[in-house]
Amino acid sequence: MSSSSANKVPVVVFDSPQAAAKALAAEFSELIRSRASEGKTAVLGLATGSTPLPFYAELIRLHKEEELSFQNVVTFNLDEYAGLPREHKESYWHFMHSNLFDHVDILAENIHLPSGTVTEAEIPTHCAEYEQAIVDAGGLDFQILGIGRTGHIGFNEPGSPKNSLTRAIELDQITREDAAPAFDGIENVPTSAITMGCGTILTARKIVLMAWGENKAAIVKEAVQGPVNDIVSASFLQEHDDARFFLDTPAASAL
Ligand code: PGA
Repeated sequence: MSSSSANKVPVVVFDSPQAAAKALAAEFSELIRSRASEGKTAVLGLATGSTPLPFYAELIRLHKEEELSFQNVVTFNLDEYAGLPREHKESYWHFMHSNLFDHVDILAENIHLPSGTVTEAEIPTHCAEYEQAIVDAGGLDFQILGIGRTGHIGFNEPGSPKNSLTRAIELDQITREDAAPAFDGIENVPTSAITMGCGTILTARKIVLMAWGENKAAIVKEAVQGPVNDIVSASFLQEHDDARFFLDTPAASAL
């Protein structure tokens, strides 16, 4: 644990993203195996972006080399871009399948992501059903998060209330700029998304936010040491009783 007394949420600093990913995957593996031994499911909240890639690589390794089965795993992803069909190469559906689901033995019916293609009229019902599906599954056991340079968790951009639920949200300009290279230009980046709310995320029994690299250092400091408010939605994690930040040394450099 980092010793800075200014930190208002537990911080663990690792030598590399791979070391952090290994430690986190070990925690997931323990949860999945202990639930399986009781004949129960493990309900995991998953994230997209470049940050969780080493974590997913380690989960795949555990599946292939250490017999970790995902047959009792139920997943809920944080968000999806509005307007992107599943087969779009930048959809989070596609991301999750190519970076994790296609390589493990998870059951298709246990995978949940918000839809990028529901009509505007259908969005409120779709979001309410997503919330209900999480409740029906028994709630989120363990949620992983990245953090955007706006401080967002999921796509909860500045101004997202602490009690917000799954809903449509307009993407911040900074978020769209960060996504522009993947979309070959900002004009191709969707302008909105469906995201779990801050309130949805905070219902998870255990949360780990991961961040790597120096370009996250300033926003990590805001989230870990700054005031709790909706300008930086990750700051709400300070008020959760089992949330931790897993950082590499550059991401922790401003603490
Ligand atoms: P990144 O995105 O993992 O690609 O840095 C994080 C986020 O926006 O939540």
